[in-house]
Amino acid sequence: MNQRIEFVLNSEKRSVEPRANQTLLEMLRDTLGVKSPKCGCDRGDCGSCTVMIDGRAVRSCLVLAVEVDGHEVKTLEGLMPGGKFSALQKSFLAHNSFQCGFCTPGVIVAVSELLEKNPHPDRNEIKEALSGNLCRCTGYTPIIEAVVAHAGREE
Ligand code: FES
Ligand code: FES
Repeated sequence: MNQRIEFVLNSEKRSVEPRANQTLLEMLRDTLGVKSPKCGCDRGDCGSCTVMIDGRAVRSCLVLAVEVDGHEVKTLEGLMPGGKFSALQKSFLAHNSFQCGFCTPGVIVAVSELLEKNPHPDRNEIKEALSGNLCRCTGYTPIIEAVVAHAGREE
């Protein structure tokens, strides 16, 4: 029997009855139409499905939907003030930090977790925070440059 769950998604209360074996990634994309988390591998290797649960970046393909009952989930959509590009996203645009863009939502979520804890990370801390996010296009340098530039700007 399916279990009804209630949780907060991008600041909105949601009530859903996911299949018992449905992952959070499947529920977000297929049931709720939230398309920024991507399915690159479906087994925890690529990070393209990264979302935040209670402020922690996690791979949503490894979490069952029922596990977010009572928790707060944030996707890239929830990190865009008023649906507009955030300052971090603008820095990615300015530094040509993506090509196909498949990895980008997960990368932005992972970086956002880092910046929440450490607003001015150094390059090694940025690399460490992104160690679980694969990008096949950029070679990572423009991603790191965008984060360095963003983290170094005056608040
Ligand atoms: S789809 Fe979740 S880590 Fe690759
Ligand atoms: S921009 Fe294509 S995988 Fe990162």
